[in-house]
Amino acid sequence: MNALELNTVRLAEDRSCLEILDQTLLPGTVKVLRVDKIEDIFEAIRYLRVRGAPAIGVCAAYGIALTASRVETEDYEAFLASFLEQKKYLASSRPTAVNLFWALDRMERALRANADRTVEEIKTILFDEAQAIRDEDVAISRSIGEIGFGLMKPGDGILTHCNAGTLATAKYGTATAPMYVALEHGMTDFRVYCDETRPLLQGARLTAFELHGAGIDTTLICDNMASTVMKSGLVNMIFVGCDRVAANGDTANKIGTSGVAVLAKHYGIPFYVCAPSSTIDMSIRTGEQIPIEERDASEVTEMWYKERMAPEGVKVYNPAFDVTDHALITGIITEKGLCRAPYEQAFKELFIGQEGK
Ligand code: MRU
Repeated sequence: MNALELNTVRLAEDRSCLEILDQTLLPGTVKVLRVDKIEDIFEAIRYLRVRGAPAIGVCAAYGIALTASRVETEDYEAFLASFLEQKKYLASSRPTAVNLFWALDRMERALRANADRTVEEIKTILFDEAQAIRDEDVAISRSIGEIGFGLMKPGDGILTHCNAGTLATAKYGTATAPMYVALEHGMTDFRVYCDETRPLLQGARLTAFELHGAGIDTTLICDNMASTVMKSGLVNMIFVGCDRVAANGDTANKIGTSGVAVLAKHYGIPFYVCAPSSTIDMSIRTGEQIPIEERDASEVTEMWYKERMAPEGVKVYNPAFDVTDHALITGIITEKGLCRAPYEQAFKELFIGQEGK
């Protein structure tokens, strides 16, 4: 299996539905869902059939292009009103990854910029915009990969958390992009440690599946083994993805990432966040303002187990993300370059002349 050939989400050729690789079934079953109703697109995002910040953005963009194409009106204002209602609904599927809102806002801008066109023409423009978001995502991940690859040395051990892989994007992933780019450059002499990533096991089910399938030397560890692996000198650097970066460089990513960063600091291991620039949210100053999704207790107590693994009625706290303090981050790798502290200044330079940032 070559992970790079998997299509996380795409529009069917006849534009009748979205084809979503159901990640809740991986690694055992590779099944593509065909969804066309907005409720099913919402459900696929909410329940992590499609997940990972960039992939959620791509899915929402295709999704709203599809559902807007079904709106039966020739009146621009009526079309815009339906679009905005659908946008609000899809935007409520998950709260943390800013790419969801970024992609939907970009779709709205494409619609409004073409207010003088017929509704039929606007529908085509929306499909084209969603496709552009998807294609740009591939190019962005590839650039992040090249920059990250530049930091790698033969023989390195790399630790990653959750799945910021090709399954979380349109292709290459963000944290995994340097690894895939290394393979493309003929460098195979590196090892990857994947945190299993409790409670939903994205590291075990998805990252290990991808990287092992790609022929990369992959070792799966439980989350609580990261310290011992780092202490043993097996890890030279850490690459993780992110769901939202605040203006000061504080970074939200899958729960457990901040613990990895604290350990990395303790052991003096460089900790890099791989972030498409669309993940940087200059409208919020610090990580404290990033909304953190809380998910169902059953994910901790019974999901993935044969039997329930906790007493009935016990209280469960299940935040899906945490925020890594910018002081723990060695660098943030965007497609435009490697940013180092002070991050606010570095981001401003990145976005010079760019609208909406
Ligand atoms: O809950 P998930 O599986 O959507 O969380 C995914 C992550 O936290 C990823 O690391 C992040 O979205 C970056 S994906 C390139």
